[in-house]
Amino acid sequence: MSSLKSSSLFVYIQRAETIMANYPEGHKRAAVIPLLDLAQRQHGWLPISAMHAVADILEMPKMRVYEVATFYTMFNREPVGKYFVQICTTTPCMLGGVGSDIILDAIKKKLGINVGETTKDGLFTLIEVECLGACVNAPMVQINDNYYEDLTVTDINRILDEYKAGKVPEAGPQSGQDSRFACEPKTGLTSLTEEPKGPGFGVRKDL
Ligand code: FES
Repeated sequence: MSSLKSSSLFVYIQRAETIMANYPEGHKRAAVIPLLDLAQRQHGWLPISAMHAVADILEMPKMRVYEVATFYTMFNREPVGKYFVQICTTTPCMLGGVGSDIILDAIKKKLGINVGETTKDGLFTLIEVECLGACVNAPMVQINDNYYEDLTVTDINRILDEYKAGKVPEAGPQSGQDSRFACEPKTGLTSLTEEPKGPGFGVRKDL
């Protein structure tokens, strides 16, 4: 094993120990999800050998680890491309903005793949997912850990081009001039527009 590989392995072991230290003695198994996530980040997906390593570290039956890894769709039990494109096609994303159907078609056309496939160069895998919790900024996609929101066809084509060129485009709403920081109304705040009242506001004076 090269020194580079062994040093990165050491970092993963350190991280695993730090994660496990968050849980009290006798409850180490509670670290199963973060450790599976760590293993997936190490390999790019979650092979069965990694599940076994997690089971060994946490001293839990392998079957219990399989149960977790197969229940949560965030764990990829088959290899995926370097950039894992998850498009939300649940109702708000289907109806919001230009709609997820249009964005999905644009991705398929741009990458030349269908849902569930990986590009020949191994760069992109495309899957369709249920709500990712960014409905207000529909339509949206998640690429690796980044959310891209308020998408148009031009945006998604640019984003994929940038990934292909080895860059990581800025995450968040992509609404240009009208851009918003997060999920606040594009036309300005409609509530919580005053300074917050201090502690004790509205409480009876005799209390
Ligand atoms: S419906 Fe797409 S993020 Fe919720």
